Amino acid sequence: MKPRQTEIEEAKKNAALEAVKHVKDGFVVGLGSGSTAAYAIEEIGNRIRNERLHFLGVPTSYQAFMLAIKHRITITTLDEHPTLDLVIDGADQIDQDLNLIKGMGGALTREKIVASASKRLIIIADENKKVKVLGENNHPIPMEVIPFSARLIIRKIGEMGGIPAIREGNGKVGPVITDNGNMIIDARFGLVTNPTELECRLKSVVGVVETGLFVRMANTVYIGKHSGVEKLEKKM
Ligand code: A5P
Repeated sequence: MKPRQTEIEEAKKNAALEAVKHVKDGFVVGLGSGSTAAYAIEEIGNRIRNERLHFLGVPTSYQAFMLAIKHRITITTLDEHPTLDLVIDGADQIDQDLNLIKGMGGALTREKIVASASKRLIIIADENKKVKVLGENNHPIPMEVIPFSARLIIRKIGEMGGIPAIREGNGKVGPVITDNGNMIIDARFGLVTNPTELECRLKSVVGVVETGLFVRMANTVYIGKHSGVEKLEKKM
């Protein structure tokens, strides 16, 4: 039997390969962040090389930027291409209405900006990311915050009934600093039965740059399994 981790990696890759089939010659594509999106970036590079196609990529993080360079994808910016054809990105949780929690990789703000600029957002993930209700298994909502306001936001999230914590780094002491020079607060709210309402409340806290709640943004989700892929479409 294959080790469980190998099966999960195969599942992520299967979802990524399916999503990259949607990329057409001449497309401007948003390049997501995280381990699943990394497979998509690699496959986009393969298609450029093997099929002699021309794509432009807008990376959502330094990770995606460096992978795009490695796989020889020509980089562009939202300044040059404010409308993207497609974004392919990962997610941390996906509910039945295709609402998402993102940001465990700390790239949520650029991911949400790029998604909001795109005609279509395709999410790729393995089966473990599917939930009935966001927040299951005590999963936090990541938020990018201005460091100057971090303590104040911690207090306000507590008053709202959340359990907040400043995200600490791996390979560095102290807080994680995002690609935008900010901090991440992970806030636990239990089950998020109304993500639209929670998103509004969190965004109204001064100093919150963006939240990892992506409400009704995803158009298509590919859930990879170790053999095969399940396709979910947003209900209108
Ligand atoms: C990055 O900030 C995230 O939004 C990722 O897209 C998300 O955490 C999924 O990452 P994995 O594909 O590595 O699970």
